[in-house]
Amino acid sequence: MAQLFPACQIDPGRLGPLLGPARGRFTIVVLAECSSTSTVLLERARQGAPSGSLLIADDQTAGRGRRGRSWLSSPSAGLTFSLLWRFAGTVARLAGLSLAVGLAVARALERLGATGVGLKWPNDILLGGGKVGGILVELETAPAGMLAVIGIGLNLQMPPAGDEAFIHPPAALSQALSPPPDRHRLLAELMIELAAVLDRFDAGGFAVLRADWQRQHAWQDRPVRLLDGERVDRQGICLGADEHGALLLQTATGIERCLSGDLSLRVA
Ligand code: BTN
Repeated sequence: MAQLFPACQIDPGRLGPLLGPARGRFTIVVLAECSSTSTVLLERARQGAPSGSLLIADDQTAGRGRRGRSWLSSPSAGLTFSLLWRFAGTVARLAGLSLAVGLAVARALERLGATGVGLKWPNDILLGGGKVGGILVELETAPAGMLAVIGIGLNLQMPPAGDEAFIHPPAALSQALSPPPDRHRLLAELMIELAAVLDRFDAGGFAVLRADWQRQHAWQDRPVRLLDGERVDRQGICLGADEHGALLLQTATGIERCLSGDLSLRVA
């Protein structure tokens, strides 16, 4: 039987030492409750918060998902946080960033012993075929380049059915990790992997991470439909992502690049 993750507030004093050499890269703030870690961190970023600012909330009252959806979570059942990362240059350098983040999350979960972790373009984390986590990357131009607020939500226990369940069945980390890791250790592994992946991304873009992403890609070489809302936009064989993070679809008329949308597996 799946074991419960104990509900507990993150203690920066406990998290810090678990980060090892990456400790100095992060400025950690913990809130018992906020509207949305991404909304609050975006506001702080505009006021000059440093790169590496990490905002964790036990509870969000208005958690946001992609495409205007809400992200439902509860303090005992989920982990919700946002990370601010600053980049030099223009938005063009950040193509594929959300895919890179997904790779970091998958690696962290695997380092903790989870098996069956997969990635779904553009930024869902899958576990045994269900959605265990989501990523919301928001970009803004800043005085010295770009800022990215990277919001991550992970299901530790099975969430109540909501909008997301309709698009993809939910999964929970408790199904894959028994006993479940301490939340501090989970967060530390996530931060260590994120720092490593974001450094590589900053130096070489998504191109240098693409092969690793393809290996984790759950629907590589499988028939898929690309949905635009409820409408089937395109369908074909999924060839993964190109070096800019665009989805490649082998269709009847050739290889097409897709820059946005929701991917859903085609019913055979
Ligand atoms: C998605 O799959 O649609 C993305 C979900 C992202 C949810 C996280 S939870 C922490 C951060 N704060 C938010 O309001 N959203 C992100």
